[in-house]
Amino acid sequence: MLKLNAIQSGYGETQVLYGLSLEALQGRILAILGRNGAGKSTTLKTIMGLLPLKSGEIFFEGKPIAFQPFDIAKSGIAYVPETRDIFPSLSVRENLEIVAKRFGSSGAVWTMERVLELFPRLGERLENGGTQLSGGEQQMLAIARGLLMNPRLLILDEPTEGLAPIIVKLIHDKLQELKNTGLSMIIVEQNFGFATSLADDVAVVGKGKVVWTGSSGEIRADEEVQHTWLGV
Ligand SMILES: Nc1ncnc2c1ncn2[C@@H]1O[C@H](COP(=O)(O)OP(=O)(O)OP(=O)(O)O)[C@@H](O)[C@H]1O
Ligand SMILES: [Mg+2]
Repeated sequence: MLKLNAIQSGYGETQVLYGLSLEALQGRILAILGRNGAGKSTTLKTIMGLLPLKSGEIFFEGKPIAFQPFDIAKSGIAYVPETRDIFPSLSVRENLEIVAKRFGSSGAVWTMERVLELFPRLGERLENGGTQLSGGEQQMLAIARGLLMNPRLLILDEPTEGLAPIIVKLIHDKLQELKNTGLSMIIVEQNFGFATSLADDVAVVGKGKVVWTGSSGEIRADEEVQHTWLGV
């Protein structure tokens, strides 16, 4: 579904990715794991066209990926960044409507109604401003916005960061529900248990490359890989 071939990328003169390759498969969840600063977020930003691809190739559904962030989103990839990027001055309703208007179409699977069914909590907060939400509610809003783009691939950067355990559990269950609908996902996570209980496939990033790939079950059983590359 999404294939990265030996990509190189970084920030200006600072190179971060040195020939990183990975593949996310249709209908599955790929977890990208790795220590702080390994290059996980850089990988996602490069996929989304937010950082320039210095060399290598990225294919989405067999075709070279678009260049501009908006075109990439339009082509079917939704990205929920670490910063969640909701509009603080807009209400929950407005945050959702902006995306629904831009990406909705007749026959779209994800509508306002359906995202509020998935996250009833947001329905109770529709008139609240973005800044009045708890961290968990902000994450729900960010995911809801992603879904309203009606993506075929949903990419999440550290969806559990800073959240209380009970909210982490809720987000876990919602992502499991989404997985059951057949939605393909890439999840970057520091929370090893969360990531490996949801994901089918795992890619470990270290020093700007993928240093290990396998299944969730394999990495759970491989303490050496966990110790060497994740510090678990
Ligand atoms: N805006 C930036 N300008 C320059 N260097 C950056 C920038 N953002 C990140 N870096 C550097 O790029 C490297 C990879 O960062 P990246 O954010 O991809 O790591 P990460 O794997 O997502 O880590 P974390 O788990 O902490 O989120 C780090 O050395 C980081 O310091
Ligand atoms: Mg990161």
